[in-house]
Amino acid sequence: MAVTILKGTIISAPELGKLDITENGYLVAENGVIQGVFPVLPEQYAGANVEDYGDALILQSFADLHLHAPQYPMLGMGMDLPLLDWLNAYAFPTEARFADPDYAREIYHKLAKELVAGGTTRVCMFSSLHTDATLILMDELEKAGVTGYVGKVNMDRNAAPGVLEETTEESKRETLRWLDACGDFAHVKPMLTPRFTPSCTNELMAFLGKLAAERDLPVQSHLSENDAEIEWVRQLHPDCQQYWETYAKYGLWNDRTVMAHCVWSDERERKAMRDAGVTVVHCADSNQNICSGVAPVRVMLNEGLKVALGSDIAGGDHLNMFDVVASAIRASKARRILDSWETDFLTVPEGWYLGTSAGAAYFGEQPGFAAGNPLHAMVLADDTLPQPHPLTPAERLERCVYLRQPGAVRAVWSAGRKVFTAG
Ligand code: GUN
Ligand code: FE
Repeated sequence: MAVTILKGTIISAPELGKLDITENGYLVAENGVIQGVFPVLPEQYAGANVEDYGDALILQSFADLHLHAPQYPMLGMGMDLPLLDWLNAYAFPTEARFADPDYAREIYHKLAKELVAGGTTRVCMFSSLHTDATLILMDELEKAGVTGYVGKVNMDRNAAPGVLEETTEESKRETLRWLDACGDFAHVKPMLTPRFTPSCTNELMAFLGKLAAERDLPVQSHLSENDAEIEWVRQLHPDCQQYWETYAKYGLWNDRTVMAHCVWSDERERKAMRDAGVTVVHCADSNQNICSGVAPVRVMLNEGLKVALGSDIAGGDHLNMFDVVASAIRASKARRILDSWETDFLTVPEGWYLGTSAGAAYFGEQPGFAAGNPLHAMVLADDTLPQPHPLTPAERLERCVYLRQPGAVRAVWSAGRKVFTAG
């Protein structure tokens, strides 16, 4: 039996707003499955190899539940337009480059490496519409040690003619070809990915809904991100009272559905998400960069919705989930101001929970370093930051959320495997 024992200052998020802290503790996994966090090493592990990280923090690694891999080349650029214009001007032309498998291989190799080095080990990710590039993306994630779901994007209308488009027939055929080729990956699984309602004909939506049911596949898409988008959906589906119903109508709305943004989802739409068990992915950077709005995350949490975080690169300008957690906290403060100081902002432990445990829940994990979870963890050193006076572990975590330090992530485990060691 393979035993992994990590020693250090262990911090985890067992529930929203709470941190479990064990200084000089031991995080133990057997065959990649967490057995527990112990202040003293249990007798049965006496003599086993202990990886001692001294004073460093041992943290859960991140789950990024919404990002666009083929937008990685435009990270940090082109954020001067609202959503629909931004898609046409920047996102679609960038994604079109992934028709070239060599280009896809080079970019996706870099992306996968950067994810793992930053402590992101679980994802729900959009590819482009290209089947071959999507398989290359899955291969690179698998090799780097990233786990989770990837989707070949479906978009058979309102795309970029001559640049990035597929017919309904192509979209169906390529989706089946892609699914047939996904069987080889152990840790990266397929997820159906209608880009968003304006991108998919009713025929395609119906096909995807049927496929989701027949093959028991999860679904990801976008919902109520931007006012012009919502109005467009209203015109395309006059029979639907609200945006979410355009997904529900076709069987794309259940407890494995992941919906990015939901900035403008009102009480009725939020109730539909809660009732179905849909996971909302809050993408604070993107919502601000392309002027979509400020999602009411606190209200969603109070109402009992499942909420996780997404970098949404490259509407979002940060792939690093420390930044994404900080952005979600800041956005919640903007929301508080907009709400006349009536909603609470997210605390650091709450933001940390959303970036780790809440996302991990989508993959069936219990919160924190619960026994039975696959080992997803990172070692974080903050010794290059000033140490003016002794800090508590919670203060150190807070500072690491806000301050980037090159090389601070020293080691990362994903599904029990050590996938990164700082060089
Ligand atoms: N809605 C449809 N496609 C996209 C995309 O690529 N990014 C964002 N932020 N929203 C979308
Ligand atoms: Fe997105």
